[in-house]
Amino acid sequence: MKRSVIIFAIETSCDETSVAIINDRKKILSQITVNQKDHSKFGGVVPEIASRAHLQILQKIIPDSFKKAKININDIDLFCATCGPGLIGGLLVGSTIAKSMAAGLNKPFYPINHLEGHLLSTNFNSKLEFPNIAFLLTGGHTQIYLIESVGKYQLLGESIDDAIGETFDKVGKLLGLGYPGGAALEKLATKGDEKFFNLPHPLEKEKGFNFSFSGIKTAVNILVKKNGKVDAKIKKNMAASFQKKIVEILNKKLIFTLDYLKEKNIRMKNISVVGGVAANKKIKESLNIICKKNNLKLIHPPLSLCGDNAIMIANVCLEHFKINKKPELNFKSDPRLQINEKK
Ligand code: KG4
Ligand code: ZN
Repeated sequence: MKRSVIIFAIETSCDETSVAIINDRKKILSQITVNQKDHSKFGGVVPEIASRAHLQILQKIIPDSFKKAKININDIDLFCATCGPGLIGGLLVGSTIAKSMAAGLNKPFYPINHLEGHLLSTNFNSKLEFPNIAFLLTGGHTQIYLIESVGKYQLLGESIDDAIGETFDKVGKLLGLGYPGGAALEKLATKGDEKFFNLPHPLEKEKGFNFSFSGIKTAVNILVKKNGKVDAKIKKNMAASFQKKIVEILNKKLIFTLDYLKEKNIRMKNISVVGGVAANKKIKESLNIICKKNNLKLIHPPLSLCGDNAIMIANVCLEHFKINKKPELNFKSDPRLQINEKK
């Protein structure tokens, strides 16, 4: 029997240091993700601290990942790492280590776009069929893509200011929830009255795929200050009202997208929601209701693949290998790396 292809991946674009080893049947041989907690006290990721920490952590978790997978470095066929977008220090640390491993063993190195990692993360354990609409909701991006196939991504729209996860984090900070505040805010929202605060819906009247979130964050800031002492009740009600508004914005955008697909006569079976914010239950539930009404299936990664992880990077590497994409040892990491767009 032919030996399977084994892939080693590193993800270091922000504050998660992650390595994974998978095979071409998408079996996870090992995965280790370390969240750098050191940034919490600064209220955001400090790039210099992040890159130093990536270096320290990788030196420990790379050997551990081989031990866990019960394989030797020589058994790896393909090496890959996130090469953008993200914080350049972290990208350089992760990609240089993976490139050196590949170069030392004379094996291929594949540079991977972090956003493509998220976009195909549903493909790991559900059946992602093309064409597909993907809502990419992360700490740095809020985008809607029409995916035609692996490698063909058409950006339909995105946030013109803050990203959705960033907004969760900024509002979380205003409510004293620490960093990153998304998951804590979701938890707090379950205890509050979602009708208590009436927050703005930016771009409500505009027809289009773009988002805007900065006005909501400003409104929360003003309302919180106006209330003087931010007690527990205000916090709960604000968390619930904020999350309700975010859900409303996403719902509206999904309905607009479905109308667009009908108008263009583009048929598909599933819609995907990916990225760190796809961990949010309320968001998934409400998008799912709209999908069901339109005979579509909402797919999303499991919780463990919503946030940043190297499995989704290894997954893209495998998909690129399958479509005969060329490896690129000399690829330069780029903090603003764009995804291959096809208009
Ligand atoms: O995809 P991700 O791990 O990193 C980026 O590529 O940016 O996304 C991180 C973002 C953070 O802003 C975090 O607060 C948010 O995802 N997040 C959530 C939840 N869990 C994580 N936002 C809302 N609800 C959640 N349960
Ligand atoms: Zn991410």
